[in-house]
Amino acid sequence: MIHNATTHTAELVSKREVIPGTFHFVLHAPALARQSRPGQFVMIQVQDGTDPLLRRPLSLSGTCGDTVELLFQVKGRGTQLMAAWEPGRSVSLIGPLGNSFIIPDVIKTAVLVAGGIGAAPLLYLAKILVESRDLQREFFFGAKTGKERALVEGCIVNEDFEYVFVTEDGTQKFQGFVTDTLAGELERKKINAKGACIYSCGPSSMLKKVARIAAAYNIPCQVSLEAHMACGVGACLGCVVEARGGFKRVCADGPVFDSRALEWNYD
Ligand SMILES: Cc1cc2nc3c(=O)[nH]c(=O)nc-3n(C[C@H](O)[C@H](O)[C@H](O)COP(=O)(O)OP(=O)(O)OC[C@H]3O[C@@H](n4cnc5c(N)ncnc54)[C@H](O)[C@@H]3O)c2cc1C
Ligand code: FES
Repeated sequence: MIHNATTHTAELVSKREVIPGTFHFVLHAPALARQSRPGQFVMIQVQDGTDPLLRRPLSLSGTCGDTVELLFQVKGRGTQLMAAWEPGRSVSLIGPLGNSFIIPDVIKTAVLVAGGIGAAPLLYLAKILVESRDLQREFFFGAKTGKERALVEGCIVNEDFEYVFVTEDGTQKFQGFVTDTLAGELERKKINAKGACIYSCGPSSMLKKVARIAAAYNIPCQVSLEAHMACGVGACLGCVVEARGGFKRVCADGPVFDSRALEWNYD
């Protein structure tokens, strides 16, 4: 929900290029860190003045004490400018925005399915799951190449999750799309409707397949969507997606949706 969202002036504390073109930022933003929940995002001003005019939306990939974390891929002008930032820089963020993943009391198994940079919000969820609940935890990560393992490995995912890494380049045990592996692994691990929940973020074509698999196994599934955003607070209708019973704004009604509430007629 957006009622907690305010403008924060954060300080970039550290910056790391995890793989070429993908950066991990840690920002000092105590109030934002306190208020945020996994699945929420911030709108970032990438430069002073009006060029680029629009803030850019990025998911929070974690919080730790007084800091928040971002994991982002350079796509265009805004993220290119951000990639050049140095620690010590002051950054204007609006957040926390949007809703968050729901962790029902009854779940016994959490299955996280990430595609590429879609791992960002799921890393935050992973941390909260480990800290708060004693569960069976599964992390499926799909990437183009084996090099992308650095986006999620070396942290909680290796240590506290059953981890399945699927790449398109055939360099790992599992080859293809993460959704090619998901159904088989759910069968093998006997994960079914009883007490399980799937959480997913990644390209929309992947989310559509994850939603289909979840429906086939009757497992509740929450997906975090991306859309082009202008305002980020529900005012411009620039980010709508088709849902059962009408259109929804990704920024204000999401970005996390029950997969059964959406119309999956887009790629
Ligand atoms: C709620 C939300 C959370 C997000 N979280 C993350 C994150 O954690 N890490 C991350 O790397 N990215 C994330 N994104 C995507 C990120 O916002 C865009 O990549 C970024 O705004 C691009 O800005 P730019 O100025 O670099 O590129 P632009 O010059 O604006 O665009 C460059 C290219 O990227 C495409 N693009 C722009 N915005 C989006 C978008 N929202 N979705 C898909 N393609 C887009 C454009 O069509 C264009 O082809 C998120 C998007 C949303 C809506
Ligand atoms: S970005 Fe304006 S309504 Fe969602």
